[in-house]
Amino acid sequence: MINNIAIIGMGKLGASMAGCLASRGFNVIGADVSQKTVDALNAGRAPVQETGLAELIERNKGRIRATLSHEDAILNSELSFVIVPTPSDARGAFSLQYVAYAFDAIGKALAKRDSYHTVVLTSTVLPGSTRYGLMPILEKSSGKKCGKDFGLCYSPEFIALGTVIRDYLNPDFFLVGEFDERSGAALESVNSRVALNNATSKRMSIENAELAKISLNSYVTLKISYANMLADLCERIPGGDVDVVSDAIGMDKRIGRRYLTGGFGYGGPCFPRDNVALNFVGKYLGAATELLEMNDDFNRTISPRFVEKLKPYLREGSTVAVLGLAYKPLSHVIEESAGMYLCLTLAGSGLRVIGYDPLATEEAQSALRMHALVADSIIACLQDAECVLVTTADDVFKALKPEDFVGNKESVTVVDFWRCLPEPIRSHPAIRYVPMGRCIDDATAIEKLDGLWRGDEHN
Ligand SMILES: NC(=O)c1ccc[n+]([C@@H]2O[C@H](COP(=O)([O-])OP(=O)(O)OC[C@H]3O[C@@H](n4cnc5c(N)ncnc54)[C@H](O)[C@@H]3O)[C@@H](O)[C@H]2O)c1
Repeated sequence: MINNIAIIGMGKLGASMAGCLASRGFNVIGADVSQKTVDALNAGRAPVQETGLAELIERNKGRIRATLSHEDAILNSELSFVIVPTPSDARGAFSLQYVAYAFDAIGKALAKRDSYHTVVLTSTVLPGSTRYGLMPILEKSSGKKCGKDFGLCYSPEFIALGTVIRDYLNPDFFLVGEFDERSGAALESVNSRVALNNATSKRMSIENAELAKISLNSYVTLKISYANMLADLCERIPGGDVDVVSDAIGMDKRIGRRYLTGGFGYGGPCFPRDNVALNFVGKYLGAATELLEMNDDFNRTISPRFVEKLKPYLREGSTVAVLGLAYKPLSHVIEESAGMYLCLTLAGSGLRVIGYDPLATEEAQSALRMHALVADSIIACLQDAECVLVTTADDVFKALKPEDFVGNKESVTVVDFWRCLPEPIRSHPAIRYVPMGRCIDDATAIEKLDGLWRGDEHN
């Protein structure tokens, strides 16, 4: 029975998995190249910010230790998860350089092992990477044979930053790409003890699993884009409301309601690049993947189109507050975030921009230096703003009161991209409330739609 697990790469995903595995009774040895990360874990502290992680690691610190030595981790475990970065390269593919470095070190450790060990790659990679790009490194540096002396799987996680712990412990399924039956069985035996919801392992070849991971993410981005297209349509239909339409079509089991809320485009460190990478490999192989390219193009037009839509509400030289700088609530990650795009674009057009985010202050302050201010408190952010842009449906913003927006001003415009603010704000006399994704000018919408049926176009 597998009781000791190594995690190579204790970052946002690896550290959270370490906490979860320890909470399910496994002894976890985390290996990382960062001394700071290793020191934090050995002191019982979370090396990264993630909801509930600090408490999880503190509670389970007796079963977690960290090391700078891959050899220490591999020699003292029966199975290892490799979760190091796979950054996008200039072609739009995923670079294997960090994984290759880790696999070389793991191979050298495997050379010293006298018993079987299963290596599981969890980092996101493109089809073919594990078997053709990485397995040869393990075999070369260990001098051993995959399938005989050690096992190999590709098994990514479907987690979202901000809810990594909940998602990891309650997955819809485990995706297991296996080199052979023995490797897959080893991983399945661990999976069956991890999930709180009895999720099962879907086992398949490594290449099918590599494709399944990236195509699942890419499919979700298509759904998000569909919702964003509907939102744009609803703004032009009298009484149009994207939430009403999404609630209705989301009831159809073929569609479902999740990821169907019109708002900003998809951002963050995974969705945009996964979509681009799948298109890259599709094109390389001669497959018809233009749909993915169109989706990426559409997604990239959303923020610029919102900037156009905002123009009537922005007075030259005035102060604009941007609430939400991370790419989504409960995250500190500002990569490909709509809030950051708005700050930079609006500041570039001569407005005074001041942003606020409950978790991303530090990251945003350094990225916006010389462009826009980042407030330490939400009230300081709202104080002078004539116009407030709410870019994420964060609970902190939903809890704001009308007085927080109005302050000492006569009036304020509040643009709600996710239609998440409560009724007292929507109807407050001093607040001009602008919900995106809903029609706010029925008269113009009626005139236009009416023209389609009465005018020349009808004939
Ligand atoms: N974060 C997510 O939401 C998410 C979701 C699914 C998949 N992934 C994938 O997981 C992988 C890791 O993502 P992340 O967000 O955890 O990255 P991260 O940058 O937060 O963490 C990576 C960690 O790996 C360490 N590292 C780098 N090279 C190493 C090596 N040779 N040996 C040991 N440690 C090494 C780094 O010091 C860092 O602590 C990526 O491929 C990513 O695409 C991430």
